[in-house]
Amino acid sequence: MRIHHQCPLYYSLFLFLLATAILISPSHGYLGKCNPSDYKALMNIKKSLSPYEFSWELNSWVQNTDCCDWHGVICDDKSNCVAGLSILGGEISGQIPSSVGDLPYLVSLSFRNIKNITGSVPQSITKLKHLIRLDLSYLSLSGPVPNFLNQLTALNFLDLSYNQISGSIPPNLSDLKHIRTIQLDGNELTGSIPELFGKFTGTVPELYLSRNKLTGPIPKSLGALGYREINLSRNKLTWDASILFNPNHSSTTFIDLSRNQFEFDFTNVKFPKDLNWLDISHNKIFGGIPEEIKDLESLEMLKVGYNRLCGKIPTGGNMERFKSTSFFHNKCL
Ligand SMILES: *[C@@H]1O[C@H](CO)[C@@H](O)[C@H](O)[C@H]1NC(C)=O
Ligand SMILES: *[C@@H]1O[C@H](CO)[C@@H](O)[C@H](O)[C@H]1NC(C)=O
Ligand SMILES: *[C@@H]1O[C@H](CO)[C@@H](O)[C@H](O)[C@H]1NC(C)=O
Ligand SMILES: *[C@@H]1O[C@H](CO)[C@@H](O)[C@H](O)[C@H]1NC(C)=O
Repeated sequence: MRIHHQCPLYYSLFLFLLATAILISPSHGYLGKCNPSDYKALMNIKKSLSPYEFSWELNSWVQNTDCCDWHGVICDDKSNCVAGLSILGGEISGQIPSSVGDLPYLVSLSFRNIKNITGSVPQSITKLKHLIRLDLSYLSLSGPVPNFLNQLTALNFLDLSYNQISGSIPPNLSDLKHIRTIQLDGNELTGSIPELFGKFTGTVPELYLSRNKLTGPIPKSLGALGYREINLSRNKLTWDASILFNPNHSSTTFIDLSRNQFEFDFTNVKFPKDLNWLDISHNKIFGGIPEEIKDLESLEMLKVGYNRLCGKIPTGGNMERFKSTSFFHNKCL
């Protein structure tokens, strides 16, 4: 991981002062390459996450040692600023420390798989203008998806999956020009998918919204964008999802609409040609299965079971790949 900035501090002046301090007081430690202001922020983070005896990362954060050598900390090799922080698992409790906002050159921040991390995302992270990757998944975060995440203008990857986050999805996540992946699956989100999710100004992100409590129809705007992967499984979405099938969107490879309350005619759906995974099972979809499905050479997963489909299952082409379980429990297939 590389960023091309120098730490904004008078680093050499500090080193000089530090060296002086070491000379004067031999008990004083030595921070090595560690940027002193980053060191201070990391120490504050550690303090707010105590007790940390069972954290592999935090246990290595020993006072007056070089933070660039600590577990879970990555320093940029040019500027020596802290560019990556990841605490993965371990038995620690508390909230995500607001001091993470005091690591201004952070590019990647992960707290993952720590059941006793509660509370919400601190607003201080909006200070992290270089943050590209934010992974706060498999924690116990609650409250809404923060409505300030759109201020993380460099963000490319956002993962808040498997928490207890509630409320509706902030539409202005679509401001994120560089976002490529949005994972909000496995939460308690309500409301509908924002209309603005059909208006991402930059790249169209992969969208994972499964296992929530989203309701309402899919906004028409979503049909205009070629989502590469979209997973809406296990929500309470209704009406027409046929707009997600657009043959002009050659990048679409993965569509999972399973376990919702979608209700539309499947007969005239036109598939993107590189579709690889299609799961529309457990809905109220009616009509027939379009003959063209057998020409989708990349299709490896097909589930249309538990719907109200009728008519003949297409044969030939790739259809040999799919067993009868793919078509289970329909009205008159
Ligand atoms: C989580 O917190 C609860 C209550 O404070 C505590 O009893 C439990 O030991 C903690 N678990 C872990 C894995 O830290
Ligand atoms: C983003 O949207 C939320 C509401 O969803 C709003 O409260 C917030 O002010 C918006 N943020 C910006 C920067 O526009
Ligand atoms: C889509 O989401 C559902 C529900 O979480 C999950 O079972 C399924 O595996 C997901 N599909 C992929 C390819 O990740
Ligand atoms: C696909 O593109 C063609 C040609 O630009 C256009 O006529 C057609 O309406 C498009 N189809 C859809 C479903 O958007």
